[in-house]
Amino acid sequence: LASLSADELRGKRVLVRVDFNVPLDESGAITDDTRIRAALPTINDLTGKGARVILAAHFGRPKGQVNEAMRLTPVAARLAELLGKPVVKTDSCIGPDAEAKVAAMGDGDVVLLENVRFFAEEEKNDPAFAAQLAALADVYVNDAFGAAHRAHASTEGVTKALSPSVAGYLMEKELQYLQGAIDEPKRPLAAIVGGSKVSSKIGVLESLIDKCDKVLIGGGMIFTFYKARGLAVGKSLVEEDKLELAKELEAKAAAKGVQLLLPTDVVLADNFAPDANSQITPIDAIPDGWMGLDIGPDSVKTFQEALADCQTVIWNGPMGVFEFDRFAAGTNGIAHTLAELSAKGCCTIIGGGDSVAAVEKVGVADRMSHISTGGGASLELLEGKVLPGVAALDEA
Ligand code: 3PG
Repeated sequence: LASLSADELRGKRVLVRVDFNVPLDESGAITDDTRIRAALPTINDLTGKGARVILAAHFGRPKGQVNEAMRLTPVAARLAELLGKPVVKTDSCIGPDAEAKVAAMGDGDVVLLENVRFFAEEEKNDPAFAAQLAALADVYVNDAFGAAHRAHASTEGVTKALSPSVAGYLMEKELQYLQGAIDEPKRPLAAIVGGSKVSSKIGVLESLIDKCDKVLIGGGMIFTFYKARGLAVGKSLVEEDKLELAKELEAKAAAKGVQLLLPTDVVLADNFAPDANSQITPIDAIPDGWMGLDIGPDSVKTFQEALADCQTVIWNGPMGVFEFDRFAAGTNGIAHTLAELSAKGCCTIIGGGDSVAAVEKVGVADRMSHISTGGGASLELLEGKVLPGVAALDEA
């Protein structure tokens, strides 16, 4: 976007794809507006240069049908507050109402198109639908990093019908940090990977073992690694069909000289509940009938020591069931550790989803170098995949 001058943008209709897929509570109120705020630099830059900003976004998964609960009405209201100017919302993202509202725009105005996923053609990346969206505008800006792993009409197809097609400032920043960290990091580079299942993180683990100097593993998936090592894990979560894979990942790391660290102790529970009885044990002393729900205090210390000399740290996935206070210490400890590393000049990157919620809950979010707005998109990027919404842009 920085490559387009004010002269090139003044009076132009700019279609900006944003990721406004924000959480709502039962009353329909937005509970976290981070993604809306994250798009403000691009929107403000464009309106400041006299462009007519037409925002396209998806919301939820309405499966190609109009769904009253998935209208962008609350988002338009919040955006108007944040921008300090009116935001006109259309009734549909294409068709007469959208065309009329766009035609009535003045320079610097903002229109938000209704949920693009009300049309099945969006997710099918239908060329005719993409052309209808494109026909509303002269220029395309993709700032929806969180949706860039989807090859949909508004993220990918539309670029075929609009030129120039460029990345917005949020997209650029996300790529600079996440892609930068794996392509040309300041080393040592460490990744902390958590989450409950090995199966959902296979691609990420393989790619990170290729790129990192150290890979630290936490979360429920550690028990699959322990069982693969022949340890007793009680009734902890184990993916029996991933035992071989766990062994292979450990072997691959060893062969490459990558330090793959697993926790040395765990917090056990007698059942999966916030008020479960708990105890801390070394990993080779897990009794029958107990399940591991967090990494233990010694592990947090070991992880801290391993991270101490790192210049770049990427974190994806919680260390335990941090939604339950009793099993949140491991995740919280890592969040604090990263905040301290940031203060010492280490580049700390939080890769989307639950880990973002964790650093926010602990209150250290503003101390991280970068917090990704993408869940699936940041994972795919760390896996080394090409994001279709990025590949389709002119500069790509
Ligand atoms: C997200 O919330 O991760 C993005 O907005 C993508 O949403 P999706 O997984 O429904 O495509």
